[in-house]
Amino acid sequence: MLTDTYGRTATDLRVSLTDRCNLRCVYCMPEEGLQWLAKPDLLTDDEIVRLVSVAVTALGVTEVRFTGGEPLLRPGLVSIVERCAALAPRPRLSLTTNGIGLARTARALAAAGLDRVNVSLDTLRPEVFIALTRRKRHQDVLDGLAAAHAAGLAPVKVNAVLMPGHNDDEAPDLLAWAIEHGYELRFIEQMPLDAQHGWKRDGMITAGEILASLRTRFTLTPEGEDARGSAPAERWTVDGGPARVGVIASVTRPFCAACDRTRLTADGQVRTCLFATEESDLRGALRSGATDEELAGLWRTAMWGKKAGSGIDDPSFLQPVRPMSAIGG
Ligand code: GTP
Ligand code: 5AD
Ligand code: SF4
Repeated sequence: MLTDTYGRTATDLRVSLTDRCNLRCVYCMPEEGLQWLAKPDLLTDDEIVRLVSVAVTALGVTEVRFTGGEPLLRPGLVSIVERCAALAPRPRLSLTTNGIGLARTARALAAAGLDRVNVSLDTLRPEVFIALTRRKRHQDVLDGLAAAHAAGLAPVKVNAVLMPGHNDDEAPDLLAWAIEHGYELRFIEQMPLDAQHGWKRDGMITAGEILASLRTRFTLTPEGEDARGSAPAERWTVDGGPARVGVIASVTRPFCAACDRTRLTADGQVRTCLFATEESDLRGALRSGATDEELAGLWRTAMWGKKAGSGIDDPSFLQPVRPMSAIGG
C-alpha cells in the first residue's frame, strides 16, 4: 500500500510517457516549446511496464492513467497499454491526451486494453483553438474524439480550461455540444503550473464563475459527495439528467484531503503531488539492479513524505520547477 502520514492511500497512478507535445497551449508552455528530456533519461518501455507492475502487484495501485506531454507521441504506447493490461490483477487503464492522432490509434488502443480516454478541448471555434494552442489542429481533435467514442473508450471525457479573453464566454456552448455528442465535459480551473510562470489568481476563471455562466442556460443539480469519491471533479446533473458536467476546482475548492494519486514522470521520478517540490528517483535504482521489493520500498518511502495539500494559498507558495507538461497533469 502507498499510504501517507495523513492517512490517505494512493491507488491511482499517473504515468507520464513523454514531456513533448505537439500543441503549445498558452496556459502550459511558450510558443518555442521547452528543453525536452534527453532520450537516455526517459524510461524505456520495459522500464515503464516494470514500474507499473511493481505498483499494481506490490503497492495496491488499481488505476493507471498514461499522460504526457502528449502520450500519443510515444511510439510504444499501444504495446505499453497491452503489456499493462496483461498484469494481474489487471489495472483499469486510461489516457489523457490532446486528441491529435487519436483518430488513427483509438481502435488499436481499445483492442490493446485501454478502457477510457480524457481529451483536452477548450473551444468549439477553430480560430480560438489556434489562439489558445498556437496550432491549426482543431479538426484533428474533433476527429480523435469521434474515433474514441466509436471505439468504445467510454466514458469519453472532455477537459476544458477557460482563459479570459479567449473562451470564457463558451462554457454553455461547450456543454450543449458535449451533451449532443455523448461526451462528459469537465471544466478545469487554471493552475499555477505553466512553464512561463504567468498564472495569477485574479486572472483565472473560478469554478463559481463557470457555474454561474452554465446556469444562464442549464439547470444544475449537485451530485453530492458520495458519487464523487476521490475524483478531482465535482459533478452536477444537467437539466434533470442523465447528462452531467464536472468542475475541477483545484484552486478554489481543492480536493487534496481525498487525494488518491501517485505520479511517475517520464524520467522515472516519483512525484507525490502535482505541486510536490521534491521527487524520488526510481530510475537510478532500477538501472542499478534493484529488486521489485526494493523499488516498492522506495516508492512507499516517497509517499510517506506526501504533503497535506497543494499549498497554493500559502503566502510562501512556490510553483514547482517542473511544469505541467513534464509532470503529466
Ligand atoms: P478521471 O476523473 O479519473 O477521469 O481523471 P482525472 O480528471 O483525474 O484526469 P485528467 O488527466 O483528465 O485530469 C484533469 C485535470 O485534473 C487536469 O488539469 C489535472 O491536472 C487535474 N488533476 C489530476 N490529478 C490531480 C491532482 O492530484 N491534484 C490536482 N490539483 N489536480 C489534478
Ligand atoms: N491548469 C489547469 N489545467 C491545465 N492543463 C494543462 N495545463 C493546465 C494548467 N496550468 C490541463 C490540460 C489537460 C489536463 C491534463 O490538464 O488542458 O486537459
Ligand atoms: Fe500539450 Fe497538454 Fe500542455 Fe496543451 S496542456 S501544451 S496539450 S501538454
